[in-house]
Amino acid sequence: MSINFKELANKYQTPYYVYDFDHITAQYNELKGAFKARKSLVAYAVKANSNLSVIKHLASLGAGADCVSIGEVKRALKVGIAPYKIIFSGVGKIDSEIKEALELGILMINVESDAELQRVEAIAKELDVVARISIRVNPNIDPKTHPYISTGLHENKFGVDIDTAKRMYIQCKNSENLDPQGIHCHIGSQLTELEPIKESVKIVADLVRNLKAIKIELSFMDIGGGLGIVYDDEKLIDTNEYAQSVLETMFGLDITIICEPGRFLVGNCGTFVTKVLYEKVNGNKRFVIVDGAMNDLIRPSLYNAYHKIEVLNDNKEFSDCNLVGPVCESGDFFAKNIDLPKTEHNDLIAIYSAGAYGFTMASNYNTRGKVAEIAVENGVDRLIRKRETFEDLIALEEEFLK
Ligand code: LLP
Repeated sequence: MSINFKELANKYQTPYYVYDFDHITAQYNELKGAFKARKSLVAYAVKANSNLSVIKHLASLGAGADCVSIGEVKRALKVGIAPYKIIFSGVGKIDSEIKEALELGILMINVESDAELQRVEAIAKELDVVARISIRVNPNIDPKTHPYISTGLHENKFGVDIDTAKRMYIQCKNSENLDPQGIHCHIGSQLTELEPIKESVKIVADLVRNLKAIKIELSFMDIGGGLGIVYDDEKLIDTNEYAQSVLETMFGLDITIICEPGRFLVGNCGTFVTKVLYEKVNGNKRFVIVDGAMNDLIRPSLYNAYHKIEVLNDNKEFSDCNLVGPVCESGDFFAKNIDLPKTEHNDLIAIYSAGAYGFTMASNYNTRGKVAEIAVENGVDRLIRKRETFEDLIALEEEFLK
């Protein structure tokens, strides 16, 4: 469906994020459908876009939630995701988070180290509860993606190696306060090759079978997220092939598949819209300066990530430029050396594929309020987060002024 960016700019001002909820529905249904041969749970990786209305929309479709902080867990619960569909991962959970997660009765705490397992056991004991856990296995597989979003190699901080995992499961079996329910593995994000996923899932499934042989029977196999999307001209993993190759590894196992996509569900459903303030030329370098900046969408600055960019005017006079924001950093750019048409003050620019890791990675750097977020569903737009005001930004400081 096409969204009228100009109308939205008139109504809500710029910059803004807009999300196409019908597209999110289609993405969810595609993935859920691919796993229809088995019991499955699509646990949305809330970190990708944690706007309450986005999570609620996915919840209404049947999604669970993959969370990396107790804040994300509470967001999921707030919009009605049942505790039994919520997983809590992360390499550095705080005691208070573990305690709260246990009290809230979520599906599983996904444990990422031996030391963490000891903390979870001790806290569960204090509370006199049994902690349902899964263990994140690090299969030492190169996912062939950007090093910052690669997580499945031993050199990355995530999960534990297979031998450690085995020992931890045995400890769980012998503990009154630990109930090993699942196993987890996530090797990276924006994956465009199926082979590394296949390899890692196979390693995990083999471990599940080994554990079964020693009477440790798991109910859930969480294959992580990571499915890539098209930003530029990437060739994607086919979701049916993906599901098929996961299911193939699971022979002899009666286990529910969990996957935890973030980007796949929301990435291409979101657009960041900003408007032109000025053009200028320094020497012979042309700059187009817009009202959005790295604090709103940091992926280009942080990962040199490519986002497709379109100037919404009819000008045919293209030339090379850098598209930059007002923040006081040379790293504040959306694109460098890009061919864009000549622009006028107030022309709109759409930056596509910004639904995942866009708003959630935004900051208030330079005392810039976070932008508005808008949903479009069945052709109808609505505000789902107000633009932050100056008063919002100083609210937690003001009372301390001497
Ligand atoms: N599960 C776990 C354990 C994760 O760490 C992640 C992402 C996901 C699931 C969801 O991954 P996805 O399906 O969205 O690829 N800020 C980076 C991406 C960081 C991903 C962190 N973990 C970016 O903008 O590309």
